[in-house]
Amino acid sequence: MSLIKLNNITKTYQMGEVEVNALKGVDLELKKGSFISFVGPSGSGKTTLLNLIGCLDKPTTGEVFINDVKINRLDRKQAAKFRGENIGFIFQNFNLMPVLTVYENVEYPLIMVQNVPLDERKKRILELLKKVGMIDQKDKYPNQISGGQKQRVAVARALVSNPKLVLADEPTANLDHESAFKVMGIMHQMKNEFGTTFIFSTHDMKIVGEAEIVYTLEDGIITGKKIQEGEN
Ligand SMILES: Nc1ncnc2c1ncn2[C@@H]1O[C@H](COP(=O)(O)OP(=O)(O)O)[C@@H](O)[C@H]1O
Ligand SMILES: [Mg+2]
Repeated sequence: MSLIKLNNITKTYQMGEVEVNALKGVDLELKKGSFISFVGPSGSGKTTLLNLIGCLDKPTTGEVFINDVKINRLDRKQAAKFRGENIGFIFQNFNLMPVLTVYENVEYPLIMVQNVPLDERKKRILELLKKVGMIDQKDKYPNQISGGQKQRVAVARALVSNPKLVLADEPTANLDHESAFKVMGIMHQMKNEFGTTFIFSTHDMKIVGEAEIVYTLEDGIITGKKIQEGEN
C-alpha cells in the first residue's frame, strides 16, 4: 500500500501582481517504511512539497493522499488533528523550546495531542532519548547542548507520538559534517526500528547517501528518481 500519493500537484504563490509557480505538476507515490530524500537547489520547491505532504499548506491544483485520506480536503482543524496523529516534523533550526529541558521537549507533543498515561509516556520518552544517545543530557536545556545534539533531541521529539511519517526540511543544514552524518544515521536507524517513513530535503548531495530513494527537484518539477543500492 502506498503511504503517500500525489496526483498532478501544482502550487502557485501570489506575490502581489506576480505569480510564482513553485510546483508545476508533481506526481509521486511513496511506500510505507521508506527513507526518502528530496534533493535540489534553493528555490526548486522542496519546502513547498514537504509543506503539502505535511498538511501545512494546500496545493493550488491536484490531490494529496496520505494513508488513503485525501488531505487537501481537510479544514484547518481536521488538518491539525491529522498532523498530530500521523506526522512528525524535524526543522532546520531544531525548534526546541528554550525554557524546556531535553526531556520536556520530547514530552511536549504528547501533552498537546494525546492522552497517554504518565508511566507509558515516561517509558517512551526515556527509550527514545536512549536510542538517539541523549539520555545523559535529559535534564539539560537546549542552550547547554550542541547543534547535533539538539537535532537528535528533535528526532526523538518527532517520533514520540509514534507517527507513520516524519518530514525533515533540511535537517542537517545547520550542522557540521560529522554531526550531519550522525543525525542521518540515527534517522535511518529509527526508520528500521519503527518502520516510520522518513522524507528529508537537502541541497547537499553528500548527505543523500543514507537515502533509499532520491528524488531530484528542479524548478518545481521532479526531474529524477534514483534508487540507491545497499541500503535498508
Ligand atoms: N510563501 C511564499 N510566497 C511566495 N513565493 C514563495 C513562497 N514560498 C516559496 N516561494 C517561492 O517558491 C519557489 C520554491 O520555494 P521553496 O519551496 O521554498 O524551495 P526550496 O525549499 O527548494 O528552496 C521559490 O521560487 C520561492 O521563492
Ligand atoms: Mg526550503
